[in-house]
Amino acid sequence: MPPAAEPYPFRCAYAGDDVDHVLVRVLDTAALRFPGGSEPDPFARYRSLMHAYHLAIAAGLADREYTALIEALGRSVAAVDSRRFQVTPLHRSAPLSDRLGFSPRGGVWIKDETGNVSGSHKGRHLMGLLIHLEVAERIGLTAAADRPDLAIASCGNAALAAAVVARAGGRRLRVFVPADAQDAVVARLRALGSDVVPCPREPGQPGDPAYLRLRQELVAGAVPFTCQGSENGLAIEGGQTIAYELATQLAGTAMDHMVIQVGGGALASACAQGLREAAELGAIPLVPRLHTVQTSGAHPLERAYERVRATLPAGEHDRAHAGPWPADDIERALATAARHRSDYMWPWESEPRSIATGILDDETYDWQAVVGAMLTSGGQPRVVTEDRLAEANELGAAAGIPADPTGTAGLAGLLDLRQAGAVGPDERVTVLFTGARRLPSAHLGRLLLGHRVLRLTLARQGPRPGGGRRPPPAGRCPARAAGSGREPRRRGWPPRRQAACRAGRRTLRHRPGAGPGCIRRPP
Ligand SMILES: Cc1ncc(COP(=O)(O)O)c(C=O)c1O
Repeated sequence: MPPAAEPYPFRCAYAGDDVDHVLVRVLDTAALRFPGGSEPDPFARYRSLMHAYHLAIAAGLADREYTALIEALGRSVAAVDSRRFQVTPLHRSAPLSDRLGFSPRGGVWIKDETGNVSGSHKGRHLMGLLIHLEVAERIGLTAAADRPDLAIASCGNAALAAAVVARAGGRRLRVFVPADAQDAVVARLRALGSDVVPCPREPGQPGDPAYLRLRQELVAGAVPFTCQGSENGLAIEGGQTIAYELATQLAGTAMDHMVIQVGGGALASACAQGLREAAELGAIPLVPRLHTVQTSGAHPLERAYERVRATLPAGEHDRAHAGPWPADDIERALATAARHRSDYMWPWESEPRSIATGILDDETYDWQAVVGAMLTSGGQPRVVTEDRLAEANELGAAAGIPADPTGTAGLAGLLDLRQAGAVGPDERVTVLFTGARRLPSAHLGRLLLGHRVLRLTLARQGPRPGGGRRPPPAGRCPARAAGSGREPRRRGWPPRRQAACRAGRRTLRHRPGAGPGCIRRPP
């Protein structure tokens, strides 16, 4: 765990071996209450659940000074993007509920992120980070005169959100984009003052080239201003505001299912953690079953889920996705998986393609939290076809929300779940419409039609990768995989056995069971 004075407690000092290192902000829910305020800005309303707030208060900042900081940042965001962070709407969609055959008791609830800052939910992750950076400066952990550059790898919504939020915070941002990033996106990023670096895919090099360049930049000292939990564990926290808002909006009523589109996994991880905390704090009666959605173009999360599931004891649950496994079994299976990351998660072998371009990540970086959330809640991973994605997108628009195909991918998963009978007509389901439609309708129409051509092309390429068992990477040292024999590489981090960071009502630590050695529960 990072020490309390670490200004950038984002990434584990031991990361880089085959252990899944993700720092998780852990709330002491026994000492907290779910916030009941009515501030329109979620970062003000749910501040007592944020790491930055506890850092600020522990350093002597008053509550009103913290809220003034949030207010000032909110105004800066509005100056850049003509809108600021506000609680986003949740409503039961009558047309969709009818179309999907729900009874009046059940139905589809849409949490609509399309009007959020920069047109997607992504800014939530980054605003949480900006607030942390501002607090670190305000309390003297860092100096304004010595701000490091921020860096992100993304081709779309995350980059646009990062550019808006970084600009609002007066910070320099470098954006690594794939060589085929849309011209309009690149132009907007540059207009927002970001330094855009195109990264072509090298033949034979697995993984996302933009992400590989980002890694080099981070090693050189840039701050990860990303939406990937593996690079920056605190990025998850800002995304959790979606779940907190949902919990408030449900006003004590139960939601049976939540279906979430997954790319890098930060969104699903944030929703899972936020809902779990909301339930622990008594704001919702139960955690909904969490289902995930990926495309047939790339589904590394589903691949990892099946591998973890295969290690669970057979029984009742093996026959179908009937319900959660015993918690102990899940914890054991995840702990093993976390120590042998590359047996479960590795870059998708071929360049993925889909009309849902936002969820084409080669890897699900935050896979372990999401697999755990599916197993414990009794949810399941869905891999949807391009036809489904197109159908969902058209249905979403007909229901009054013109989102992009990634934004409606959760609905595509729900269509599959309804067809499979995994969601009943009396049940209540939330889907997130996460991204606004940016392309002109005519262009999108061509894209939706074009997906049939794409499907045929993919079919001609032969069977999809990922089916068979992958041999373990050659030469992996078992001791190293178990997390031993390595020293912290970041200056100022204490030896692992002394490590502890506990201030206010939260700690930062590894995900439970993620590996021995550097992973310590707070004393
Ligand atoms: C609109 C939209 N929805 C959902 C996602 C998936 O989020 P995550 O990458 O955190 O899984 C993305 C990712 O880019 C996105 O752009």
